[in-house]
Amino acid sequence: MAEANKRLVSGVKPTGRPHIGNYFGAMKQFVDLLNTGQYECFVFVADYHGLNFIQNAEIMQANIIDLVSDYVAIGLNPAQVHLYKQSDIAEHTELAWVFDTITTMPYLMRAHAYKDAEAKDKEISVGAFNYPMLMAADILLYSPDVVPVGQDQKQHIEYARDTAQKFNRIFGDTFKLPNAIIKEDVATVPGTDGRKMSKSYGNTIPLFGTREEIVKAVMGIVTDSGSDIPEHVYAIHKLLRSEAELAPLYEANKGKYKILKEALIEDLDAMIAPMRTHKEALSREVIIQILKDGREVAKEIASAKMKEAREKIGVEFY
Ligand code: ADP
Ligand code: TRP
Repeated sequence: MAEANKRLVSGVKPTGRPHIGNYFGAMKQFVDLLNTGQYECFVFVADYHGLNFIQNAEIMQANIIDLVSDYVAIGLNPAQVHLYKQSDIAEHTELAWVFDTITTMPYLMRAHAYKDAEAKDKEISVGAFNYPMLMAADILLYSPDVVPVGQDQKQHIEYARDTAQKFNRIFGDTFKLPNAIIKEDVATVPGTDGRKMSKSYGNTIPLFGTREEIVKAVMGIVTDSGSDIPEHVYAIHKLLRSEAELAPLYEANKGKYKILKEALIEDLDAMIAPMRTHKEALSREVIIQILKDGREVAKEIASAKMKEAREKIGVEFY
């Protein structure tokens, strides 16, 4: 294995049950990068980001535990990855405050997330407005080389880079500029109705779904009668097998949607079943221990960086 000489940081919001769109579009990338052996990986639960959306203690706690078990079950081995919780490292919010003071409102008003909320006339919390500054702190505290994110997060990484540069310009060289890793070839995974698979459309195939849930979702995939190949079935199937492997199956079963859906069910279940079993074997106690171990490592790095920042701004002198 190559030596893990570069550092990777990324965060995930604990917003509920993942679907296969999340898996192929984002989650799997962490496992692939970890398996290159090139990176020391820090992956955290962005629970304080999640607080903008989830304001219920029971749901918050359940989602945090769930999210960590999901990531362990897909292959983030806690012996190789530091898994921790954002709210356990107070330096994230502390540094976010410092960044707030060197950032202007008009600059934050240019963020896509803010503009979208404005366009939809949605009320936006101050927390959601400042989201890019907390995210900049999440990243810059750990001096990572790379930050793997989905396409939709690209602008936030630019905000983190700009903020690092601004701090360095005012107070002297402190933060390293991170680079985004965005998997460009991940097509949007379509949902059962052909639109983008998304929680908000209710068209998902759950990643840790039971066999029954998979059957129900796949049987519900909208098919366009008249065509030989059910387009939406094929689009999902393509994520699991190469086009060369699928060609004879789809050729032999033209127009036979039920057979093709059954084949997709088998392939999905073959992928999901081992992850489902792994997840079921993880107890709450095991997950909490993983988070505590991760906290210890993350805390040491974050507090050293925060101390340096505090010295630079002139508040750390005794
Ligand atoms: P949802 O749309 O279900 O609310 P999120 O916005 O929480 O999903 O997405 C979490 C991550 O999963 C993001 O990085 C996003 O790019 C990725 N993702 C979500 N849906 C898809 C999809 N249908 N295809 C590919 N990637 C997706
Ligand atoms: N904003 C990211 C998302 O919505 C989650 C996130 C928070 C993050 N902090 C981060 C990702 C730091 C990478 C690095 O998906």
